[in-house]
Amino acid sequence: MSQQRDHWNSNLGFVLAATGSAIGLGNLWKFPFITWENNGGAFVLVYLVCIAAVGLPIMMAELLIGRRSQKSAVGALKAVAGPAWGVVGGWGVICAFILLSYYTVIAGWSIYYFARTMEWTFGGFPSGLATGDLFNEQVSNAGLQLALSLSFSVGTVAVVYFGVSKGIERIARLFLPILFGILLLLLVSALRMDGAGEALSFIFRPNFAELEPDSVLEALGHSFFTLSLGMCAMITYGSYIARHHSIVKASAMIVVLDTVIALVATIIMFSVIFSVAGMSEQVGGSTVGMLFISLPELFYSEVPFGVVLGPLFYVLVALAALTSTISLLEVVVSYVIDERGIARNRATFLCGGAIFVFTIFAALSFTGTPVLATMELFAEKVGWFSTADHFVSNWMLPTGGLAITLAAGWFISRKVSEGELVDGNQPRWFHYPTWRFFIRFVAPIAVASIIIAVLFGVDFS
Ligand code: PFF
Repeated sequence: MSQQRDHWNSNLGFVLAATGSAIGLGNLWKFPFITWENNGGAFVLVYLVCIAAVGLPIMMAELLIGRRSQKSAVGALKAVAGPAWGVVGGWGVICAFILLSYYTVIAGWSIYYFARTMEWTFGGFPSGLATGDLFNEQVSNAGLQLALSLSFSVGTVAVVYFGVSKGIERIARLFLPILFGILLLLLVSALRMDGAGEALSFIFRPNFAELEPDSVLEALGHSFFTLSLGMCAMITYGSYIARHHSIVKASAMIVVLDTVIALVATIIMFSVIFSVAGMSEQVGGSTVGMLFISLPELFYSEVPFGVVLGPLFYVLVALAALTSTISLLEVVVSYVIDERGIARNRATFLCGGAIFVFTIFAALSFTGTPVLATMELFAEKVGWFSTADHFVSNWMLPTGGLAITLAAGWFISRKVSEGELVDGNQPRWFHYPTWRFFIRFVAPIAVASIIIAVLFGVDFS
């Protein structure tokens, strides 16, 4: 069966879809938290360097592999780097499968908080409500967890079902501008709060004395996750790019947008937190704390126009997560379509269904369900959810990323990579030999150092 391959309708549509993949829970949930944990300033600076020196070159590499081959993960790597490299594509597909299975659970929480904040907006914030207890109640309610994750999975399947231009691109064109608009409103409101100044100096004033070696690796590891690299998502999206669009320009836009959004989200959250006496001590505990425990209440007590912005904030989280989950599902679905010859509609249901089985495990790992809640494959990572997250963040992403980097730098001929990047549409600042140096030496050494750190017990999940 050789159907015509679907392509992005426009360059803008593609850039928005890829940016949608990149912007997700990593920007709104993980980045603010690790910035907090690593004392801001210097960490943020190191993160920016990692994004530019490692993330950007690998983004170009993944997109060029996709566009050159016009194939999904496995076929693409086989075609451009050699038959043995199909394994790396397969690794990416498995990685996307696992990540999607548990990412959906947290994405589902945004639906719950949207519903609750709507309730509070219209009925008032209940006096004496402890948002920490509310959070624990919702995550331990099995029926609720399953319903939320199922709703989110259905949303993801519904988009991917319609394909690249009619599904993914359309949704990105619609949702990304809404997402940017909501963030802007939140930013304007946050900057008017008393804590804004302190937040900005925490984020942007580097103090290198507080920077630890592990922080550098954490910044590096996160730059992968946030840009959706290492699991062939960008190879897959790249395979739908038409020839006349510049990969270099697109990569630069995706990377800049993703970084700006992560910083804006962090400014918003920290401005709120620093505005409330004692809040900064409370927040430190966990990643979920900031997003789902501290913020919901603060919208109703501190944030200017919080009654409107509260629900909008959770719409933002849901949209950001959805544009990421569709890219993860697309990695798996496009593999099944291309390599197994199954039509898109069937492939989407099949993959969506198979992944949801594992989503059930992840959803139930907070509900006290035997084994799922108590398993401990990796030390101190208790439960299915944490096990899967640990495995993906620490093992799958860096190894997949390293392999893709090596393929692009050492196994794809110079003629091919140069032909894809220097195609007449590239921006003037682009210098191919510099890219080649970064992809052959800087990126592999950086990614290998993550793997070495993991072997020595550093944790990136
Ligand atoms: N980049 C997404 C985020 O920051 O939340 C996560 C992600 C999506 C990673 C898609 C990888 C991927 F293929």
